[in-house]
Amino acid sequence: MSLATDAAEPLETADTTNGPRHVAIIMDGNGRWAQMRGRPRLFGHHAGAKRVREIVEACPDSGVKYLTIFAFSTENWKRTQVEVSGLMKLFQRYITKEAKALSDEGVRVRFIGDRVRLNSKLVELMDNLETMTAHNDRVHLTIALNYGGRDEVARATKRLAQDVATGKLDPETVDEETLPRYLDTCVLPDPDLVIRTSGEARISNFLLWQSAYAEYEFIDTLWPDFTREEFARLTAKYGTRDRRFGAVAT
Ligand code: IPE
Ligand code: IPE
Ligand code: MG
Repeated sequence: MSLATDAAEPLETADTTNGPRHVAIIMDGNGRWAQMRGRPRLFGHHAGAKRVREIVEACPDSGVKYLTIFAFSTENWKRTQVEVSGLMKLFQRYITKEAKALSDEGVRVRFIGDRVRLNSKLVELMDNLETMTAHNDRVHLTIALNYGGRDEVARATKRLAQDVATGKLDPETVDEETLPRYLDTCVLPDPDLVIRTSGEARISNFLLWQSAYAEYEFIDTLWPDFTREEFARLTAKYGTRDRRFGAVAT
């Protein structure tokens, strides 16, 4: 990347806020939200999916250019068949229903995670949505679906090893800039802020490599109750944090 030398020419990515550029969210608590209402867990997942649009729309106001959301983990296959197949249907329905609105609002959608285990119809919808929104740049929404940080690093390492085996990559040149080029997130900046809803203070295999220096917010709100106001509060709070990256505060 080259630095702008002409002061009259604004930097394309210049940000007027000191808020986070990339926010990642572990959208947790759908099941408990439904259980509290005496409803099946899938009811909570449907309510949770409805929250996504509002948060995506709130991004520009908080100066957030990249939003990455955890929709289904590589560990979530351990749930009952009813819940897993209900979630897979929900993802198909969500993409079909939301595609136009997301596209019209200038949202570029990407998916991360391993597509191999996903149903071919769902993968087709994901591919189409990525293509349909590829020209957009207002908000970059990345949906982690069948995503696991360890799985991602393992898949990346495999491809890296293949490049070494075929002579495309010299192992002597491998450093900490090399592996990220093989990750699903290779075109994204690292997250600045990771939010987890539902009161659990763990990261559950989300963006392990990428979040090495992220700030974290663990909040009690269950995902279906999460609002744009709470999002704005958390992104504003981020601006008050002192990110030292290992250095001494100046
Ligand atoms: C998060 O909500 C959504 C997914 C993991 C798909 P949960 O389903 O984990 O909700 P809780 O944690 O059981 O309340
Ligand atoms: C993390 O939530 C995964 C998603 C939000 C998609 P989980 O509910 O699956 O995580 P654990 O089981 O509490 O660690
Ligand atoms: Mg959960």
